Amino acid sequence: MIIILFGPPGAGKGTQAQLLEKNRGLVQLSTGDMLRAAVAAETHYGKKAKDKMDAGQLVSDDIVIGIIADRIKADDCKNGFILDGFPRNVAQAQALDVMLAEEGVKLDAVVQMEVDDAALVDRVSGRYTCAKCNEGYHDTNLKPAVEGVCDNCGSTEFKRRDDDNAETVAKRLDEYYAQTAPVLPYYAEQGILQQVDGMAAVNEVAAQIDAVLAA
Ligand code: AP5
Repeated sequence: MIIILFGPPGAGKGTQAQLLEKNRGLVQLSTGDMLRAAVAAETHYGKKAKDKMDAGQLVSDDIVIGIIADRIKADDCKNGFILDGFPRNVAQAQALDVMLAEEGVKLDAVVQMEVDDAALVDRVSGRYTCAKCNEGYHDTNLKPAVEGVCDNCGSTEFKRRDDDNAETVAKRLDEYYAQTAPVLPYYAEQGILQQVDGMAAVNEVAAQIDAVLAA
């Protein structure tokens, strides 16, 4: 199964992708995570991407399309994958169609996560992850069972993203409406676009996604 989780910054794409990965054995392909890894490793792509990411702007298409084109050929993607944060404009969506056709596979669903803009800044500015296993948490909505200890791996080290501040989130939201939301009609025309209520509780959103994928 090949799924796109689609929505603005903080919609819950990463949260739901991690659940789908655990529950369905699909691989989460987050372009944001891949770019952050490239920045941390100071690769050629990472150096080019850093300024754009810090400014809340999209990284150039040639970089992200190249990353995804390579990644979907890997063996662990053969049973299916979840695209989280890609595509982010119509050119990327068209490039994805070409890549999937070359691999002889097709998209099963594009799940649009609808969330009020006002909730997004709170969600993103309260977010943190385990520094060791990358499990996601939130200051008020999703705390570890034991404060300061990761539920998943027991690590006591956590990290926050450089672009998770109110000013950059506002810019990321502007980019979403200017460049990413216009992709929605592209998938609506293909008859594979479905909506879920991203304002619901995490488990409820997961149940809605399950229902969409079962339809
Ligand atoms: P990226 O890493 O993709 O960030 P994003 O799209 O802005 O999305 P986020 O990761 O911020 O949010 P999310 O929807 O995954 O929410 P999450 O589940 O974490 O991109 C970062 C940057 O990389 C971009 O700005 C760009 O520069 C670059 N980039 C990436 N892909 C690119 C591409 N294709 N082209 C060009 N550039 C690209 O949840 C957020 C918080 O809310 C968490 O704390 C979570 O616990 C909480 N939460 C989740 N669900 C719920 C719920 N239902 N109720 C309450 N709280 C919830």
